[in-house]
Amino acid sequence: MSSRRTAPALFAGAATLLLLGSASATAAPAHADHHATLRALAAPHDLKVGTAVDVSALSDDTAYRAVAGSEFNSVTAENVMKWEVVEPTRGTYDWSQADELVDFARRHHQSVRGHTLLWHNQLPAWLTSGVADGSIDAPELRRILRDHITAEVKHFKGRIYQWDVVNEIFEEDGSYRDSLWLRTLGPSYVADAFRWAHAADPKAKLFLNDYNVEGINAKSTAYYDLAKKLRAQGVPVQGLGIQGYLDIQYGFPADVEQNLERFAALGMQTAFTEVDVRMNLPAGDTERARQADDYRRLLDACLAVRSCTSFTVWGFTDKYSWVPGTFPGQGAANILDENFVAKPAYTALADELKTTRRTGHRP
Ligand code: XIL
Repeated sequence: MSSRRTAPALFAGAATLLLLGSASATAAPAHADHHATLRALAAPHDLKVGTAVDVSALSDDTAYRAVAGSEFNSVTAENVMKWEVVEPTRGTYDWSQADELVDFARRHHQSVRGHTLLWHNQLPAWLTSGVADGSIDAPELRRILRDHITAEVKHFKGRIYQWDVVNEIFEEDGSYRDSLWLRTLGPSYVADAFRWAHAADPKAKLFLNDYNVEGINAKSTAYYDLAKKLRAQGVPVQGLGIQGYLDIQYGFPADVEQNLERFAALGMQTAFTEVDVRMNLPAGDTERARQADDYRRLLDACLAVRSCTSFTVWGFTDKYSWVPGTFPGQGAANILDENFVAKPAYTALADELKTTRRTGHRP
């Protein structure tokens, strides 16, 4: 039996791929693609199921475009809303690629997660070098940050349902990350960023976002303490984004559901924002089964806690994954393989959505 036939979920993508002329393909599947998509399965749960989107692949790769448009009801820009892309020269904004994605989302009745307004990576050179050589001082950097957040959030006003306002601001031990933001502005930049974002689009839900905060640990507890403090001060922070990068050689994180619950108790949403599960290559069936289980357990925790409002994978196909370029020797982290064929991880997510019921209330 061909792998295609064992993977009905992928007929949309695989058929397109075949039609595009894979030389060895004998024929495109004759029957229509009737599988229930992840987005259809997620609908009764009041949960957005999303993917990060690589905008170049979206324009160049028909199969990629077909799956991105059909399987998900939420999209996140993998790169094109980041500072280096939208403001490559000081004061000159280029929204073209981000607008392309937002248009795609509108045409496919998808919501858009905004990612990200403030990070220590993928900053434009004019900014990092200006801070390094002292030509941008603290008051100037604060103005630059305010203008950037205001311009970007306003540009997309009404079209973004959740914004990752600050990304990866803590170290693993729960101290503030040593970044140019902290060094130049001190920790008050965090509250400022949320206030500016809220002023520019009061309806968007504003998120903190980080990795290694799935379970209860020093870092997620620092987020919990910060969120509690900010909310007590009236700072508009409404969600904790949990990136969800796992690696099958480590155990599944402890107390994920309890972690989501404690943020819910603060009146906050949670979201899995960038899930992928990597492994050492080459990988076999055992590894793929373990991966499927990790995906399923993250989604299960999200479904168990009503305030978990979106579950986003960081790309859906191994073909365009960031993992091999960042973690040498690792990969195969996504739910579809390089040919858009569903892996056990895809089936695990679909089954989880089919068989689980959600209860409880949502903030
Ligand atoms: C990654 C992208 O996937 C890559 O294409 C890019 O080269 C670097 O950034 N955490 C985040 C994401 O919040 O923005 C990162 O995305 C992955 C880690």
